[in-house]
Amino acid sequence: MPKVSHASSLREFPLNRAFTWFESGPVLLIGTSWKGKPNAMTISCHMSMGFTPLLGCMLGPWNHTYEILRNTRKCVVSVPGADLMEIAVDIGNCSGESMDKFAHFGLTYRPGEETGAPMIEECLASLECKVIKIPPRGGPYMFILEGIRAWHNPDRREKRTFHARGDGFFIIDGETLNLRDRMTKWQDCI
Ligand SMILES: Cc1cc2nc3c(=O)[nH]c(=O)nc-3n(C[C@H](O)[C@H](O)[C@H](O)COP(=O)(O)O)c2cc1C
Repeated sequence: MPKVSHASSLREFPLNRAFTWFESGPVLLIGTSWKGKPNAMTISCHMSMGFTPLLGCMLGPWNHTYEILRNTRKCVVSVPGADLMEIAVDIGNCSGESMDKFAHFGLTYRPGEETGAPMIEECLASLECKVIKIPPRGGPYMFILEGIRAWHNPDRREKRTFHARGDGFFIIDGETLNLRDRMTKWQDCI
């Protein structure tokens, strides 16, 4: 019999803070290039939508990156390690409209082979992407990106990523568990 609770310990949670339970992470950096100027912004509202790979990214019009992405339809999604946590937060608190973030934060980039957008050397991995779906002007602001070439930096000592909890709180990756033996249905796929 299923157990139904009448004196539940569940408490209602403010709907407008509910995203703090679901915001997925890892925190990512979206690199773009416009008129030869590289830029990066921080993003935590994103989701993996397929293995090709496909990524859905909520990226609003208040960001300088928004128009660049609409125009160029190309970007690089980089995965910062926990050692870049403070820099990644700072990158998400200033705009490339008025500054050169790469110079300011002392980051190194290599122009993507397919996209020309900046791949951040200090990150763990970079995925060159094309935008396959532009959101409507009025929102919801979900860009769909398809990865076309992937890179990683195996020399980085810090391998842990970090995840947004919302409201300025973050979680750093913990233990890695190997449950491959249980993946009987998916051995070849995932
Ligand atoms: C931890 C963190 C997560 C963020 N996540 C998002 C996000 O998911 N979507 C978004 O539109 N902006 C997000 N931002 C805000 C942008 O990074 C911020 O507006 C940034 O200044 C945009 O840079 P740009 O103007 O150079 O494009 C986030 C900022 C931080 C610090």
